[in-house]
Amino acid sequence: MSLLGGREYFAQADVTARFRAAFRIGPRPHPFSTKDTLMRSTLRIALPALAVLGLGTALFAEAHADPVEARQEHMKAMGAQLGILGKMAQGETEYDAAAASEAAAELSALAVGLTEAEGWWPEGSDNTSGADTKALPEIWENMDDFESKMDDLVTAAAAMEAVAGDGLEAVQGEMRTIGGACGACHSDYRERS
Ligand code: HEC
Repeated sequence: MSLLGGREYFAQADVTARFRAAFRIGPRPHPFSTKDTLMRSTLRIALPALAVLGLGTALFAEAHADPVEARQEHMKAMGAQLGILGKMAQGETEYDAAAASEAAAELSALAVGLTEAEGWWPEGSDNTSGADTKALPEIWENMDDFESKMDDLVTAAAAMEAVAGDGLEAVQGEMRTIGGACGACHSDYRERS
């Protein structure tokens, strides 16, 4: 696990455009305004200065260096998107085709991101290690199965994305599959709280 695992992860050339969109990063669709240009020239001076001091790297690494935190944050982000869909499915919030499609697209991108993340599950980062984690040691005994459960989630999230705009019933139907994909992994590989 590299110290800059998170940084490399975001720098990966094959991170999908949708994944970038989910994090609201990447190229802007419109031309830069004067303010942006000013900001950019400030950054052009400030960034190398920070780099010389090693500060930029240190600050970035602090946010992403801990693989346990990185994977937990990612899980939470998936939970937030699934929550939007789940509330609609249960009638807690009104079905909204655009909002459902957006949540499903973000969840789908996050699911792909989970499979692409490097260094989030280093050996020894289980709940017997003293780290603040619920990851069970069984993950490392069954890494193939663990990863195939990630793939199942990608499939389920893509299916949701395909129909989320088609109506409440479609969302309700796919919720079961996605909930099942999250739950199948949690029941085998996450400590029960
Ligand atoms: C391939 C296995 C796997 C899949 C699929 C998976 N999870 Fe997880 N999830 C885990 C593990 C392992 C943990 C414990 C991580 C830790 O504590 O280090 C976890 C933790 C979490 C947490 C707690 C994060 C925290 O704050 O500590 C949430 C929330 C969560 N998952 C939501 C989801 C949702 C929602 C889905 C489906 C959309 C999902 N997970 C799919 C394995 C998985």
